[in-house]
Amino acid sequence: MASLTVRQLDDKLKALLRLRAARHGRSMEDEVRVILKAAAEAAGREVLEKFEPPAMAVRRRAPPVAADARRILLIIGGGIAAYKSLDLIRRLQDSGARVRCILTAAAQHFVTPLAAGALAGERAFTDLFDAQSEFDVGHIRLARDTDLVVVAPATADLLAKMAGGHVDDLAGAVLLATDRPILLAPAMNPRMWAAKATQRNLAQLVADGVRVVGPNSGEMAERGEAGLGRMAEPREIAAAAAAMLRVAGPLSGARVLVTSGPTHEPIDPVRFIANRSSGKQGHAIAAAAAAAGADVVLIAGPADLPEPPGIAVVKVETANEMLAAVERALPADVAVFAAAVADWRVERVSRGKIKKQHGEPRALALVENPDILATVAHLKNHRPRLVIGFAAETDDVVANARAKLAKKGCDWILANDVSPETGIMGGDSNTIHLITATSVESWPRQSKDDVARQLIERVAAALRGEKR
Ligand code: C5P
Repeated sequence: MASLTVRQLDDKLKALLRLRAARHGRSMEDEVRVILKAAAEAAGREVLEKFEPPAMAVRRRAPPVAADARRILLIIGGGIAAYKSLDLIRRLQDSGARVRCILTAAAQHFVTPLAAGALAGERAFTDLFDAQSEFDVGHIRLARDTDLVVVAPATADLLAKMAGGHVDDLAGAVLLATDRPILLAPAMNPRMWAAKATQRNLAQLVADGVRVVGPNSGEMAERGEAGLGRMAEPREIAAAAAAMLRVAGPLSGARVLVTSGPTHEPIDPVRFIANRSSGKQGHAIAAAAAAAGADVVLIAGPADLPEPPGIAVVKVETANEMLAAVERALPADVAVFAAAVADWRVERVSRGKIKKQHGEPRALALVENPDILATVAHLKNHRPRLVIGFAAETDDVVANARAKLAKKGCDWILANDVSPETGIMGGDSNTIHLITATSVESWPRQSKDDVARQLIERVAAALRGEKR
């Protein structure tokens, strides 16, 4: 391992590190190694994969915001999920909003005001009694000069403070002083979430008109702990914020229909034909469209994913149900068919459980399912302006996808290689070739969220072009 140098840390950090190192009888460099190793073990490798250190954050300049941009005040509470709030700043900005941050004292143990301020493009606020910030804006103006307040992560302590109206720091003062809508993204240990006091505080806040997104279920930072308490993903929080603000984004005024997930085709009351689709890509596209201001309807097969907040979700099981739901959801400006629809269904679904028989195994007679994408792409009335399909292939990806574009009559196909070694099916990243009637564009391997954002940017550009 290359040696570490702590010389470049600022004096405050160095002093803290020196104290810790002395307490543990280690050198300062060893202390840094131990902290890094423990943080990665406690929070999972994703901390190191996703966390953007301030130096990188400073390099990415905040995107320009329109003079009439909606304003979001993001209050970052003190929990391990705070690292996700840096990503959240970007997601909120993606919908065209101007973001301003407040960090509680506890939050500053996890992320720095410098990182939050660099991403937001404006200094982050931390102290109620800081003469400079009171001179600059003051807590009352912070509370009023915004269209929405988002608290993420909303810790058990912040919920308790809000429910009781306590004002012992800047976050508490602003939350009490604001008359703007408030969105909470709770994050805490499952036992703390389930605790009667937390649920009592939450019920009070909901009754007061506060909106809540999440928490999700999953592994906790504490080893061996799992359950309800993970903060909602930044894209889910951004979609909920967009829905509350009805953000003016590049897809404002457009209706977008998305299919996602697998379908389940019943064989008998206990068995069905299914596939390995996770629904991650389709759900991410629905969330990205909502964050861009679109009115989104998501028609989802049985996927084990939380519903993206702020989006109308229609849950279906079979291909026939999916087609019926799609037809009911039309007209739409854009339709994205990301669902992995089963090609076949059982001709006669048994009413009773099929019994094991001696001798010959029982044959199942199959009939073809309707092709939802082709049906919509060939509509005479109510054909969306942009019909987009997916082609999951294992060989000759681009050639097969081109043939599919023509056969299905859609405008674009997003082709991807789903050979098992790619890990795309069920995984978090995707490699896409965007195929149109006249071009093939190969995108780099990226997260499914980034694929969704890139696609929505292209959709918005195409709709703008059409209007011109
Ligand atoms: O024919 P194939 O299943 O490869 O086509 C994939 C594309 O067609 C996807 O966009 C999928 O959502 C759509 N599809 C559909 N209805 C079907 C089969 C596929 O909408 N029955």
